[in-house]
Amino acid sequence: MIVPLSTIVLSLFVIRSFADLNVGFSFYGNDFIEPSYILNKNWNTTTIVAQESIIQWADWLAAQGPWSVTTSTSILAPSNDTHDYISWAPYYWPNCTSIPNASGLTPQQVWVTCPYHQMDGQTNPDTRPVNNTGAFSALADAVFYNTLAWAINGSSKYPTNVASWINTWFLASDTYMNPNLNYAQIVRGTGPGSNNGTGSHMGVLDLKSMTKIVSSVLVLRAGNAPGWTSAIDAGLVNWTTQYIGWLTTSPIALNESITPSNHGSYYYNQLAALQILVNDAASANATVQKYFSTLYLNQINATGEQPFEMNRTRPYHFRTFNLAAMITNARIGSYLGFDAWNLPTTYGATIQTALDFTMALPPGTEDGTELYPDVGAVAAVYGDPNGTYVGYLSKGQQTYPANPWFFYTQPLSDSGWVRANAGRPGAATPSGTGPAGSTASAAIGKNGAGSRISLGTYGQLFFGTTTLVLLHVLLV
Ligand SMILES: *[C@@H]1O[C@H](CO)[C@@H](O)[C@H](O)[C@H]1NC(C)=O
Ligand SMILES: *[C@@H]1O[C@H](CO)[C@@H](O)[C@H](O)[C@H]1NC(C)=O
Ligand SMILES: *[C@@H]1O[C@H](CO)[C@@H](O)[C@H](O)[C@H]1NC(C)=O
Ligand SMILES: *[C@@H]1O[C@H](CO)[C@@H](O)[C@H](O)[C@H]1NC(C)=O
Ligand SMILES: *[C@@H]1O[C@H](CO)[C@@H](O)[C@H](O)[C@H]1NC(C)=O
Ligand SMILES: *[C@@H]1O[C@H](CO)[C@@H](O)[C@H](O)[C@H]1NC(C)=O
Ligand SMILES: *[C@@H]1O[C@H](CO)[C@@H](O)[C@H](O)[C@H]1NC(C)=O
Ligand SMILES: *[C@@H]1O[C@H](CO)[C@@H](O)[C@H](O)[C@H]1NC(C)=O
Ligand SMILES: *[C@@H]1O[C@H](CO)[C@@H](O)[C@H](O)[C@H]1NC(C)=O
Ligand SMILES: *[C@@H]1O[C@H](CO)[C@@H](O)[C@H](O)[C@H]1NC(C)=O
Ligand SMILES: *[C@@H]1O[C@H](CO)[C@@H](O)[C@H](O)[C@H]1NC(C)=O
Ligand SMILES: *[C@@H]1O[C@H](CO)[C@@H](O)[C@H](O)[C@H]1NC(C)=O
Repeated sequence: MIVPLSTIVLSLFVIRSFADLNVGFSFYGNDFIEPSYILNKNWNTTTIVAQESIIQWADWLAAQGPWSVTTSTSILAPSNDTHDYISWAPYYWPNCTSIPNASGLTPQQVWVTCPYHQMDGQTNPDTRPVNNTGAFSALADAVFYNTLAWAINGSSKYPTNVASWINTWFLASDTYMNPNLNYAQIVRGTGPGSNNGTGSHMGVLDLKSMTKIVSSVLVLRAGNAPGWTSAIDAGLVNWTTQYIGWLTTSPIALNESITPSNHGSYYYNQLAALQILVNDAASANATVQKYFSTLYLNQINATGEQPFEMNRTRPYHFRTFNLAAMITNARIGSYLGFDAWNLPTTYGATIQTALDFTMALPPGTEDGTELYPDVGAVAAVYGDPNGTYVGYLSKGQQTYPANPWFFYTQPLSDSGWVRANAGRPGAATPSGTGPAGSTASAAIGKNGAGSRISLGTYGQLFFGTTTLVLLHVLLV
């Protein structure tokens, strides 16, 4: 490749030590990347720290695999089929006051005897014994970051791992998942939502991260990645074809497709991405366009408020979460040649209006950093002529260019951060105050799972000399 002189000059200043930087893993609502951006490898040098964070996340997630619905044998779906995906609706709690002698009930008896009722946003810890939701989410993130790590680092271990995890979850005869969600987010007990022991439409959300998997497969496929064999590709296409059949005909899935909130938005993320995976771009295009001509029209008010997220118990999170789904639908549209970014809702608003509105709100007791990938996405697409968006990011988290999303949310300025911190060991240590009143240091260490990635191999990734940096730039 031809390296612009400006890149080389910049690279001379790049990264003496970011060894103190430790971007704790956090879950992003969803993602879909234009595969050519990854495969062309024409990345801005400002993304170099984000690239190293991606390697860290990839390695950390890889150590947790593989994942399969057959891992847990203590609790099975009502079908008793170990290959059936099962999860329990997280926000439902038992109310046994109408049940005689309820105090004598075992937990298992409570599950089938008492009516359960919803307490929005409050997770019942009793749902923890079943964690296919967490397992699938971890699988999708592992697949996604290990695919990016392959593009960045080139080691065949990354795509070989991805192929093996996909084989385990979807295909291998002893560990595969049946291609349906008939038992996802089951509302237990005897209440009105219980659906007679089968899953609820809300459970379709459990596989929202399919979009990350599809985004990865497009890169592995087009890049002829080592380990991504035609047998695994064909097997996954076969599985997906059957699952699309379920997603487009089962009453459970069809109910989700008409849910006005983020649940509906994510249904379209999932279906459109899977249709791309099976090489049905025309259907994917129709799916994205259906979303933008139905649910989307009512999701953003003139002010940018999202009426179906604002009344939730964690409204900042849910606004942010639906923004991620809307952005992902628009990114999938862009990939297909359908531009949704400037489509107005019934009230004349766009995705940018919704982002601007949310950005102006205080997150209160909620995690303000969750909005940052959405801010970056909007700035990268709509532009940031007066620096409003990067100003917001810098103020909240000076080290924002170290986050993995910064790598693939381009063009987006790093506010000069990478160059300014060159050659100053430890200088990249986060400082400053975030919008939630938390220090940026705390924010950047934030981890959905409550733990931090150990520095581990990060020291080895340290670029000690400008020569190495230059080599790195020339080689990528
Ligand atoms: C599943 O197993 C349980 C416990 O052995 C049994 O009560 C139930 O009838 C079985 N269900 C089906 C669908 O076979
Ligand atoms: C629990 O059930 C009782 C009796 O059916 C009812 O009076 C009470 O309001 C319920 N509590 C909640 C929190 O739903
Ligand atoms: C209530 O439950 C306890 C414990 O299971 C049992 O010993 C007792 O006989 C039960 N009482 C009635 C009236 O069912
Ligand atoms: C569920 O799995 C995820 C991903 O492995 C993990 O982070 C989380 O701690 C698990 N939750 C429970 C309650 O075990
Ligand atoms: C890939 O990572 C390994 C360490 O895991 C390192 O030795 C190697 O130099 C890296 N390759 C590139 C091209 O960055
Ligand atoms: C509930 O499920 C049971 C067992 O799967 C079945 O026999 C029964 O007909 C179902 N009831 C309804 C109302 O669907
Ligand atoms: C497709 O999947 C079905 C069931 O999941 C399986 O029976 C069949 O062998 C698969 N076909 C191919 C070509 O992999
Ligand atoms: C959103 O806009 C619609 C139409 O103007 C209105 O009916 C609704 O009350 C608004 N909702 C909020 C929360 O502002
Ligand atoms: C949420 O509450 C607001 C204010 O009470 C109301 O205007 C809006 O219609 C509600 N949204 C939904 C979807 O019910
Ligand atoms: C998707 O739809 C848009 C708008 O109708 C069209 O321009 C584009 O070519 C379509 N893309 C595909 C892959 O069908
Ligand atoms: C700065 O840019 C943002 C986003 O494009 C826009 O909403 C805002 O009105 C602009 N502010 C000024 C003072 O131009
Ligand atoms: C890299 O990003 C910076 C900051 O956004 C920008 O000024 C520069 O033009 C970009 N360089 C290239 C080669 O795109």
